[in-house]
Amino acid sequence: MIYLDHNATTPIDERVLDAMLPFLKIFYGNPSSLYRHGRLVRSAMDTAREQVAAACDANASQLVFTSSGTEANNMALATLSAQSLFAISAVEHPSVTEPAQHLKSRGHALTIIDVDADGLVTEESIANLIPQQPELVSIMLANNETGVIQDVAFYAGQLSARKINVHTDAVQALGKMPLSFKQLGVGLMSLSSHKIYGPKGCGALVFDKKMLIKPLLFGGGQEQGLRAGTENVAAIVGFGKAAELAQTELAGRNRHLCHLRDVLEQGLARIPGLTMFAQHAKRLPNTVQFGVAGVDGEMLLMKLDKKAIAVSSGSACASGGTEPSSVLTAMGVSGQQAKAAIRISLGKSNTEEEVSEFINVLNALVNQA
Ligand SMILES: Cc1ncc(COP(=O)(O)O)c(C=O)c1O
Repeated sequence: MIYLDHNATTPIDERVLDAMLPFLKIFYGNPSSLYRHGRLVRSAMDTAREQVAAACDANASQLVFTSSGTEANNMALATLSAQSLFAISAVEHPSVTEPAQHLKSRGHALTIIDVDADGLVTEESIANLIPQQPELVSIMLANNETGVIQDVAFYAGQLSARKINVHTDAVQALGKMPLSFKQLGVGLMSLSSHKIYGPKGCGALVFDKKMLIKPLLFGGGQEQGLRAGTENVAAIVGFGKAAELAQTELAGRNRHLCHLRDVLEQGLARIPGLTMFAQHAKRLPNTVQFGVAGVDGEMLLMKLDKKAIAVSSGSACASGGTEPSSVLTAMGVSGQQAKAAIRISLGKSNTEEEVSEFINVLNALVNQA
């Protein structure tokens, strides 16, 4: 199989699996237990916390492990006080938009921040938002569908100067671009393990100590009392190892990905009727989204699948639905064009041969259509 859907999930890195296995086989103690077998596990979790914190330039004490990026996003929005005003960008992941809509149904006031044709939040929309004095603004760092990178540091500077808290969903940014919680200047940041060759079912919320985090789960007081439940130790250890590798290998991985992306985009440019979305914006090195006029994205995905090539027709969580991508719609792309969308997200193990093979197969399928 040629796997070109790394924004949906990544295969686990062998070195990550090796780091995890002892915590499934041998060191099964509860990290809250006081005896040696528990303390040893606690210490492995502490190391993982340091590793994830180092990969995003935060302090280990600012990090709470969660079950997923989804949970971290939900926790971020749950910091809102009752009946408050908050804002999210028009291109957020469903794990932000859905809790936002839920909060709205519970009496909070929600403003959606517009984006331009490249999917970028505009200076004007932030300038219009500031006088409303929202309590929290959520702007994702890198988009899962288009790969577009927002200037979160710039907006966080403007917003925090007006005492407005900022959350950023950095799930797709971690491991794909340099990431500094400190330099972004946000109050809250969400991460996920399975997008960086770590295990599924593990994420983290990074928080500034001034933020009042409200637990979603209550119980045994784990994670500084912010997230109860016996920790998913092996997954946390794996997340730590994956974060360490992402940090040390970032430059090399990105050189490889930029090269593959150039080969991919040169190949795509030769296909008649093909449009690349968000082409003019700064994007992640691994993500390309395009559509071919008159060719349905889901149909194309299924045909590629028959040729053992895995791509996405939008965000993984949204595929299967018939609605055009809300991200592309927010960018002003027509419903028909959005339904043609295919997302390619490259990974560290992809090769130039795989990219060339994909282009050849795509060319043939488009010519048949
Ligand atoms: C931008 C973004 N945020 C959040 C998530 C959710 O992360 P998780 O799969 O860990 O719940 C995803 C997953 O696709 C994502 O792409």
